[in-house]
Amino acid sequence: MLANALSLAALAGAAMASPCKPSPTTSAPSYSTVPSPSSTAIAPGEPFGLMALRSASPIHFAQFGAALSSVFLNLPSQNATCDDGENPTTADYATFTLSEEGELYLYRQSATPQQLFVDRSGMGQGKLGYTTGAQPGPRNGERTAFSLDDYNDLSFNGAGFLACPNSIDGAWSVWVDAGVSSPGGNSDCLGLSARAVKIAGAANSCVYTQ
Ligand SMILES: *[C@@H]1O[C@H](CO)[C@@H](O)[C@H](O)[C@H]1NC(C)=O
Repeated sequence: MLANALSLAALAGAAMASPCKPSPTTSAPSYSTVPSPSSTAIAPGEPFGLMALRSASPIHFAQFGAALSSVFLNLPSQNATCDDGENPTTADYATFTLSEEGELYLYRQSATPQQLFVDRSGMGQGKLGYTTGAQPGPRNGERTAFSLDDYNDLSFNGAGFLACPNSIDGAWSVWVDAGVSSPGGNSDCLGLSARAVKIAGAANSCVYTQ
């Protein structure tokens, strides 16, 4: 009976320790309607998509897309060139990988993948973009310090993300929160969490437009 009592205590402990997101910071969204965090960590190099979480907004659950060397939410067509994926011609979201060193890439199976950078300088104001091949990033571009937390939420050097409306094709442009609430001359930007979601089935291996 002692064993049973212990396992009951363990169950009670587990219930009390059930996932509860830490208090959001000023610009972070409310998590009340968010599905339970994934219990499975995403391994270095494992492909994932990113979903925006900002409840009661047009970008809640929006997928991250990549085009024109920039990152967007609610982008109708990325026009990426994809191969080998399950759904190669109609990838309507971007697929990412994160290296052990904190480098973020656009997933590509068989060649040099495109790599994300962040420009937190006064010029960049948190610009999130990507380079192709040997293309140099901006002078102040940083390429490491991306990480995923226990909830698979992505951050850059501890900072979260912002999205601003009225970008190309009605999409929202995505920025790293570098302390500028309206980066790039935008307005009405919203803070969001960027949750990594594992890809079910074969991941889309793509080259995104420059
Ligand atoms: C994708 O192609 C369509 C058709 O040419 C165009 O209207 C749209 O703006 C393109 N999207 C991007 C993100 O370049």
